[in-house]
Amino acid sequence: MANKDDAAAAAAAATETTREEESPTEYKTHLKSHALFKYILNTSVYPREAPCMKELRRITEKHPWGVIATTPDEVQFIGMLLKLMNAKKTMEIGVFTGYSLLATALALPDDGQILALDINRQNYSLGLPVIQKAGVAHKIDFREGPAMPVLDQLVSKEENKGTFDFVFVDADKENYIHYHERILQLVRVGGVVAYDNTLWCGSVAPSPEDEPLPPEALVYTETMINLNRALAADPRIELSQLSIADGLTLCRRLY
Ligand SMILES: C[S@@+](CC[C@H](N)C(=O)[O-])C[C@H]1O[C@@H](n2cnc3c(N)ncnc32)[C@H](O)[C@@H]1O
Repeated sequence: MANKDDAAAAAAAATETTREEESPTEYKTHLKSHALFKYILNTSVYPREAPCMKELRRITEKHPWGVIATTPDEVQFIGMLLKLMNAKKTMEIGVFTGYSLLATALALPDDGQILALDINRQNYSLGLPVIQKAGVAHKIDFREGPAMPVLDQLVSKEENKGTFDFVFVDADKENYIHYHERILQLVRVGGVVAYDNTLWCGSVAPSPEDEPLPPEALVYTETMINLNRALAADPRIELSQLSIADGLTLCRRLY
């Protein structure tokens, strides 16, 4: 929600639950039932979703990889967190069509800045017209290419250190642990790094009653187990493992 009027209009429109068509991301949850997740989406998320976010979600759902998009409840949470933090300068690693990026851009003030990194500009170009129409494209500096060299370049300059309020990491899972070392230098003390998919379909701790996951779903299980262990043992951060969507770990830089 951009401002008080938008929020009031959305609240007025949300007097009833909203039934949306099924989206490919609707199974990315660790809640005990799909019905409960649908309840949250239909009661608290979809009715309050800005029209531009809905438009971009609809575009993204038609993409053959639509399931990789960040979920609507998660981006709602990220937008709230950014506002609570008064975030102004952020980074996003893993843009895809720009769904979480648009949520971030809407949450930042008009002079906010987002450094957005992705190896694929084609997918971003699907969302860009919606981002432009929403009037927030001026906040985004999109760079096509792997994130690591950009991070290395940023940390090589003293003036970039400690300047980011928030970083959202939602890209190549095997590099999260390497991104972490660089990002911790770039985020300010008190700033937050959020790592997505840290429960990896629940496979980090399978339970005997779970349906076995196909082998392709297990490809990053060890990676996430190692990341979660490393983050929990890192004295430079305070952390919170959220079970929203596929698991989101918030790390607040302490020093
Ligand atoms: C899960 S998707 C991101 C979803 C996005 N946050 C959203 O809201 O829809 C992961 C993205 O990471 C990108 N990616 C993969 N490897 C990358 C790398 N080394 N550097 C930057 N981006 C990368 C992929 O192209 C893909 O768009």
